[in-house]
Formats: sequence, structure tokens, C-alpha cells
Amino acid sequence: MKKLFALLLTIAMVLSVTACGGKSAPASSGGSDAGTTPSAPDGAKKVTVGLIQLTEHPSLDEIRETITSRLAEKAAENGLDIQVNYQNGQGDTSTINTICQQFVANQVDVIVAIATPAAQGAAAAAENSGIPVVFSAVTDPVAAGLVASIEAPGGSITGTSDAIPVEKIFSLAQELTPDVKSYGLIYNTSEDNSLSVIAQVKDYLEGKGIPYTEGAVTTSADVQSSARNLLERCDAVFAPIDNTVASAMAVLADEAIKAKKPVYVAADSMVADGGLATVGVNYTNLGSQTADMVLKVLTGTPAGEIPVEILRDNAIVINGNTARAIGVDISKYGPNDADIVSALS
Ligand code: TRP
Repeated sequence: MKKLFALLLTIAMVLSVTACGGKSAPASSGGSDAGTTPSAPDGAKKVTVGLIQLTEHPSLDEIRETITSRLAEKAAENGLDIQVNYQNGQGDTSTINTICQQFVANQVDVIVAIATPAAQGAAAAAENSGIPVVFSAVTDPVAAGLVASIEAPGGSITGTSDAIPVEKIFSLAQELTPDVKSYGLIYNTSEDNSLSVIAQVKDYLEGKGIPYTEGAVTTSADVQSSARNLLERCDAVFAPIDNTVASAMAVLADEAIKAKKPVYVAADSMVADGGLATVGVNYTNLGSQTADMVLKVLTGTPAGEIPVEILRDNAIVINGNTARAIGVDISKYGPNDADIVSALS
């Protein structure tokens, strides 16, 4: 059995994500001042993409790297010479607003915004400017006030959404750790993406009569104390698709392993960073779909006429190291039912 585990642990689909984090823009994207599309054909239309990412954590980095490389790959066949100006919002609303206002002042051809708070800043800055916005990985674009509806976004905005399958995550939790009788919910109340998922989680838990305790965080620095508090009071912790928690996921995972309790999460990257398990979407696919929408907009389709694309293909992802460390049996799961990742340590 040990051998089988060791084998499964090597199937680390998310490894590349963690390995590629970093400050520098990928070569293919050009930076604010770097190159344009390689081998741009004569007569290609020169366009500029203002790319804003909320903050740096592995999932957002995976999305950005996919978007920039796909744009570079597809530019020529779309008759475009694309320059990407990538800026990081440092998780700060006023920084995000300044960056987006600068994109508008520079008259970029499209603003691409990764994660909900970045998309909200982009939408506000671009309003009435005529500059289209394509958002990426916005969990609930309607609740975030970005679009009137999924089918017909209206205005000059569209994008991709990572729907979170709350029931599937809690069914998996029930199966892996049937003795869990209470949950701690850790999230940042100022992230609309988290609020939307937490509302569904509360409905679900209340429907089942399972008690929960909430632990609010304002910054990543709050994650440790909130985690300790919840782990003392509850049998397990759930973290929604929260950027603030994701940025300190290793800290939360460490505390949970010390307490020998499971943390269920809402993204594969948070499992790679030590969470026990999730059921979630593939963020490379999401980045790719976002890039294709950007290409549509750059070749003349009004953004508001392109329906929002919600990713619904889910996969189970389990961290084999974490399971072993806290004594959870995952022998039922193999490569065909779940991706097993290791915590890289
Ligand atoms: N969906 C999140 C949002 O709406 C962004 C996001 C994508 C994310 N992947 C993630 C958050 C992984 C936490 C962990 O802002």
C-alpha cells in the first residue's frame, strides 16, 4: 500500500503551477516594455492588452501564464500583433484602481482582469470609456455586480467564471471524513467571490443540521490565528475560493496538520499547498477560454454580446501527503477517480 501511495504521489498535476510562480512576466507575454508577438505577420494589427491580476498565488499565476501564452500563440492567425502590459494589484484595492485608470488613460484595446476584486476595479475604471473588459475566474459575476446576466452580459464586459460545486465538495468530505460533525469557515468578508460560495455552504450545512463557526480574515496575516481558533472549536475547516486565504494556504494547512484535522478547499492549487481535498475546475482550461474570448473582442465582437463562460467540468483533487499526515484513508481513490498531489515537501 505504501508503494501505491508513493506512486500516486508522483502524479503531481499541479506541480508545474507551483514551480512557475514568480514576479517576472512570462517571456511570451512581453512585459510593459518588452516585445510584441513573435513572428507578427506584415500588416498585423498592433493591439495592447492591459492585464491586471489581483495578487500572486499559484492559481492566479497559472491562469495568467495560460492567457499570455495562448494570446502569443494565437495572435498571428488572428491577424494581430499583441503587446501585453501585465501589472499586479498586490491585493490592494487602491493599487488596482490606479493600475486600471492608467490602462484607460493609455487607451489599451482591452483590459483583462484576473479574480473578482481586480475585475471590479477594471469595470469601474473602464465604465463609459468604451474600453472592453474581459474578466477571468470570477466566481459569481452577477453577485459581484459585473454583469446583468450570464447569457447577455450587456455593457462592454464579459469573461469566464469558476463555479464552485459546493455539494460535491461536502459529499466528498463526508465520504473521506465521516466523523466530522462541525465546520469552521475561513474567508475574507470583503471578497464577493467568497461571500457567494459561503452563502451556498451555509444553506447546505443548515439543511443538513451541521453546525459551523465563521472565522473572518482581513489579510493573509490573519489566517494563522483564525485557523487556530477554528481548529480548536471545529472538527474540520472549509475555505472557499478566497484569494486572501489562498495566499496563506500553506500556513492554514500546517495548522490543520498539527491539529490532525482536515481542511477542505475550493481549488486544486489549495490542495497542492497542503489542503486535504477539493472538487474543482481546471484553471489552465479557464485561462485558455479567457484568452479565446479576448481574441474575439480584439477581432471585433462587442464584449457585452459574448455570453459569460462558466466552467463546469470538475475533478476531485486530494493531497496524499496531507491524508497520510492526518490519518485519512484515500485508498479508494486512484488516478482515475482523483488527481492525487503531494505537498512538495
Ligand atoms: N475565483 C476567484 C475570484 O473570483 C479567483 C481564483 C481563481 C481563486 N483561482 C483561485 C481564489 C484559487 C482562490 C484560490 O476572485
